[in-house]
Amino acid sequence: MGAAVIVEGLRKTYGALTAVDDLSFTIQEGEVFALLGPNGAGKTTTVEILEGHRARTAGRVEVLGQDPWRAGPQLRERVGIVLQEAGFDDEFTVREIVTLYRGLYPRRLDASAVIDRVGLTDKADARVKTLSGGQRRRLDLALGLVGDPDLLFLDEPTTGFDPSARRRAWDLVEDLRSLGTTVLLTTHYLDEAEHLADRVGVVVRGRLVAVGTPAELGAGHRAAVVTFRLPDGIDGAELPPLVGTAVREGLEWRLETAEPTAALHALTGWALERGVDVPALTVRRPSLEDVYLGLVGDHDDAPDAHADADAGAATKAHGPAGAHRRGASRGTRDEGRRR
Ligand SMILES: Nc1ncnc2c1ncn2[C@@H]1O[C@H](COP(=O)(O)OP(=O)(O)O)[C@@H](O)[C@H]1O
Ligand SMILES: [Mg+2]
Repeated sequence: MGAAVIVEGLRKTYGALTAVDDLSFTIQEGEVFALLGPNGAGKTTTVEILEGHRARTAGRVEVLGQDPWRAGPQLRERVGIVLQEAGFDDEFTVREIVTLYRGLYPRRLDASAVIDRVGLTDKADARVKTLSGGQRRRLDLALGLVGDPDLLFLDEPTTGFDPSARRRAWDLVEDLRSLGTTVLLTTHYLDEAEHLADRVGVVVRGRLVAVGTPAELGAGHRAAVVTFRLPDGIDGAELPPLVGTAVREGLEWRLETAEPTAALHALTGWALERGVDVPALTVRRPSLEDVYLGLVGDHDDAPDAHADADAGAATKAHGPAGAHRRGASRGTRDEGRRR
């Protein structure tokens, strides 16, 4: 199997702001790859460059063997796109707009089947303007799928979904994986990346700070975390030497240690000797969430050009041309659609 997407040394600047800074990663055919990062990290910018909707400042990008900025319709016909926010004509019904988009692709799925797959069958004849936010997002998904893509870009596919709609969207991505579709999704939800992605790239301030399977990302951080409260009437100074240093966090004490067995032995042995109980004692391995928060925290301490991080998330829609259509002319390849 070859690479579906190759990104090498990708950079994108907007004036003085560096939105994407020397990003490199590869997505294999059939792989579900997640770009995970906080708002303003540069995820949408990266995806839009890969879609051919945005020019890059530097670096090499290959999508299904072609440079998306130069490629013609043959590439766009094989790629499905679900933008972070898309706009379409509100007066259309769900079925009408799915049928319209379907017409843009040479290889296409049945409109009703796609509507059903995203769970909008009972809204098929409703006008788009009457849909809730989550239902619109499902329509976005339908439009990304209707051309039966080899590669699907999903930019924050479940933002705004309620828990059951989110599960449904997850199931859909899993279906796509089993059908062999390559998926690049972006998300700021860690559980989503962990649940869906074969591999995750963590992006902070335009830089890739970690990449690997969810298990690999967690594995570099083997220290266990022991937390407890002090027994009644006992002062922190009375604690025995533990393997590692316990730090006080509010009422709790927290100890990170590579030797949790020995640390627990020291702590519980001391407590038993004194005939006291150690309240709220827990020991756990750091989850991917701890690792992620650590990575974001480490790389996110200096307020600089990314201070306006939420601006990217607040962008508003553009028209249907270029939103999902692939066979269409590249009319929306503008740099100015964001405020
Ligand atoms: N057209 C634009 N002009 C200027 N700055 C932009 C533009 N688009 C995005 N940005 C900025 O680039 C950074 C990355 O944005 P974006 O790629 O939308 O991040 P994400 O999708 O990870 O939230 C943000 O600081 C954002 O404000
Ligand atoms: Mg975004």
